[in-house]
Amino acid sequence: MSTLNTYAPSPEWVANAHVKGEAGYAALVAEAEKDYAGYWARLARELVTWQTPFTKTLNDSEAPFFKWFEDGKLNVSYNCLDRHVEAGKGDKTALIFEADDGSVTRVTYAELLAKVSQLANALKARGIQKGDRVVIYMPMSVEGVVAMQACARIGATHSVVFGGFSAQSLRDRIQDAGAVALICADEQQRGGKALPLKAIVDEALADNSCPTLKDVIVYKRTGGSIAWVEGRDLWLHELMAVASTTCAPEWVEAEHPLFLLYTSGSTGKPKGVQHSSGGYLLHAALTTKWTFDLKDDDIFWCTADIGWVTGHSYITYGPLALGGTEIVFEGVPTFPDAGRFWQMIQKHKVSIFYTAPTAIRSLIKAAETNEAVHPKNYDLSSLRLLGSVGEPINPAAWEWYHQHVGGGRCPIVDTFWQTETGGHMITPLPGVTTLVPGSCTLPFPGIQAAIVDETGNDVPNGQGGILVVKKPWPSMIRTIWGDPERFKKSYYPSELKGYYLAGDGAIRDAETGYFTITGRIDDVLNVSGHRMGTMEIESALVSCTELVAEAAVVGRPDDTTGEAICAFVVLKRPRPSGDEAKAIAKQLRDHVAKEIGPIAKPKDIRFGDNLPKTRSGKIMRRLLRSVAKGESVTQDTSTLENPAILEQLGQAY
Ligand code: WTA
Repeated sequence: MSTLNTYAPSPEWVANAHVKGEAGYAALVAEAEKDYAGYWARLARELVTWQTPFTKTLNDSEAPFFKWFEDGKLNVSYNCLDRHVEAGKGDKTALIFEADDGSVTRVTYAELLAKVSQLANALKARGIQKGDRVVIYMPMSVEGVVAMQACARIGATHSVVFGGFSAQSLRDRIQDAGAVALICADEQQRGGKALPLKAIVDEALADNSCPTLKDVIVYKRTGGSIAWVEGRDLWLHELMAVASTTCAPEWVEAEHPLFLLYTSGSTGKPKGVQHSSGGYLLHAALTTKWTFDLKDDDIFWCTADIGWVTGHSYITYGPLALGGTEIVFEGVPTFPDAGRFWQMIQKHKVSIFYTAPTAIRSLIKAAETNEAVHPKNYDLSSLRLLGSVGEPINPAAWEWYHQHVGGGRCPIVDTFWQTETGGHMITPLPGVTTLVPGSCTLPFPGIQAAIVDETGNDVPNGQGGILVVKKPWPSMIRTIWGDPERFKKSYYPSELKGYYLAGDGAIRDAETGYFTITGRIDDVLNVSGHRMGTMEIESALVSCTELVAEAAVVGRPDDTTGEAICAFVVLKRPRPSGDEAKAIAKQLRDHVAKEIGPIAKPKDIRFGDNLPKTRSGKIMRRLLRSVAKGESVTQDTSTLENPAILEQLGQAY
């Protein structure tokens, strides 16, 4: 690390941040060490308003199914809305919505509470109750946030499906969750184009494939023409127009499932990660406060989509729980040009900006080829803090972000966490941490992150290993919906001494003890910060039964997207080449887009007469990774059944 620059927090940061300096950090760490449950209990009392206070903090009697604050009752939407209105902040702006075309809508806390209450009443009027699952398939919109909050208000468990997922993926999630209702939009407006949503819903529900689902509630975004199923489809605006703007919140137990969010694992279909109400809300609020140092006059902008966990914790829940003001952006970073983010920061005087390395890298490229969209052309002086999430940020991109976006004065918080963790796990705190580009630095106070070997023994700093969390924490995944065995196997394998297995490799610096994430240790890929399982993509490819005999998928490093998807395919017909191979590769990409979504399209497709296998029939994935990288193959290929195919696989389409 000695070759990298380091950036200590300024004295102003140390003096003014919520967590002040190394002493402030050390005091919290010591408090958690001395009385772990007491530490979280104190914070849960300070940050969350309880209708019934809890008396028990942590119940580990059925580990790894941990319970936090279990006899406490609360309502998450009450915590995000009512309590601010009751405190006289009803006129404060909660959401600043900027549409794709640049038009802006502001929503105050009082207005947001009224809208959420109306939709909550409308859902209740449809018979939707506490514990029912509601799928949300919405664009970035005020209504998307309202839909999530309305579910929370009545105790319904939402499951947001990212608007880029296909009908098949949507159907799988509706079925797995046993959802009774779905909230979607007619279309989504992105990058100057209207893209279908309701049509995909219709396809997902065709042939009565989701018998539990009774209602489809449609938000009219574009007014584009859509099909309508009488008795099933309902207009959101019509339901809301007749609903009261007050709705008593449903008080739920702290462990009540606030949401499911499907994410990819190394095997099988995506799994429904189940989060709680109390513990989740606590960590979403606490990390927003400490990591982002959110203050009353900040303008906070998290660019994630509500379809991902980042949008849950740092758009829908964390900032609203603290009564903050935030941007909700409908569009894309490159429309009308790649200066859009900088232009919006200038226009809205954004003070805290949180985005993904892949976005930064693509905007660096854009600024290098087109001077006009370089951040230097914009007034970014309102910024005081920057954040990064979703994948490792390479030091060069970090330095550019720091210098050209942050003007050299804004700390960057490189936040490591996962869908399963609910909120930040390892991250700098802006008034505390001396930053090193590319390192997520140290655990959030209270989080017992560590690096161990395959048997759960600590490895010394400077030596890489498996990232684990040694103690349960309030916002952790509770289970995999409908599959507790898979939850245990995936996250609490018996050989790891009861530690939570993150699925990432990591290394701690020998001197500073800082963590650097070295990437997934399972078959999960991270493409532009989106998680995908190699098996999922392989099954999508082989489901193209008329063409594909066999497929193997691996990742390779990519300058912009972090990782790129590479597929090795054996066809049911002779191996193609030239234009024919290109045409088939396109057909296969389109097929994957249809099965999973466009984000899962392989970047490279390589055709072989066979896949490289050992004599015992195992696909040699390590070798495929070398081929995908374009490296010369140095592995022992003597066990390879058919060495000639290595040459065939050299050509990517
Ligand atoms: C990766 C996104 C390095 C990691 C919040 C993790 C990161 C997976 C970082 C979770 C980071 C996330 N540095 N890697 N700051 N943040 N990751 O569930 O591999 O979509 O396991 O949650 O992203 O992705 P997920």
